[in-house]
Amino acid sequence: MSAPEIRVLPDIAAIAHAAADEFVRLAPRTVALAGGSTPRALYELLATRQDIAWDAIQFFWGDERHVPPDDHDSNYRMTREALLDRVPAPESNIHRIRAENPNAAVAAMEYESELHSVFGDGVPRFDLVLMGMGPEGHTASLFPGSEALRENHALVVAPWVDKMHSYRITMTLPVFNNASNVMFMVAGMEKAQTLKLVLEESQEDSLPAAMIRPANGRLMWMIDREAGRLLRSTL
Ligand code: 6PG
Repeated sequence: MSAPEIRVLPDIAAIAHAAADEFVRLAPRTVALAGGSTPRALYELLATRQDIAWDAIQFFWGDERHVPPDDHDSNYRMTREALLDRVPAPESNIHRIRAENPNAAVAAMEYESELHSVFGDGVPRFDLVLMGMGPEGHTASLFPGSEALRENHALVVAPWVDKMHSYRITMTLPVFNNASNVMFMVAGMEKAQTLKLVLEESQEDSLPAAMIRPANGRLMWMIDREAGRLLRSTL
């Protein structure tokens, strides 16, 4: 993997602008979307761009909460409202995680089949994976200490997340680390300490966000000043 590219921007709005420009430049054909408030700003901005061939993009989700698609917590619902309902993306290109299934493990297996139906056998290689990071270092639904971090076979798993008192459905490290481009979007001072560990402690190998290292791809971090305030490179 080449060294991560780190861009420190004034605020979430500037992250969204930089990320949208990168999105247009990359012109991805396959995208894994993230949940969370920081990615949402990007989606709202992308929805206003005229220079994107929406019908050429296959949309997936890196993770989902174990809720129906119309639930307030659904990453799919958030992305639909912020982006997909506002652009001419064909329904057949929208590959949501069917998290309304009462059995989260079955929903994960079904999503793995969905991935194979588009990418074929083997580990998918996404053109672009979008990611957020929680204050304790989780990314997608890979939380610190989770067994899901040791998964090296399944493409999608359904870990129980104690902190959330619920199951989540998430793609695994082999998928994220096989992407051509991974772009993190991180904002807020409550993430500064963790971000420093992730980006500047080479020994750090327990935080999920630090385990995202695309083997043969590009890793970008779009962060705001508050999240980046403890980084040596921005002092
Ligand atoms: C989710 C996300 C998750 C998110 C981070 C950061 O389903 O919640 O995929 O990994 O990206 O929690 O979220 P914020 O940007 O809202 O802090």
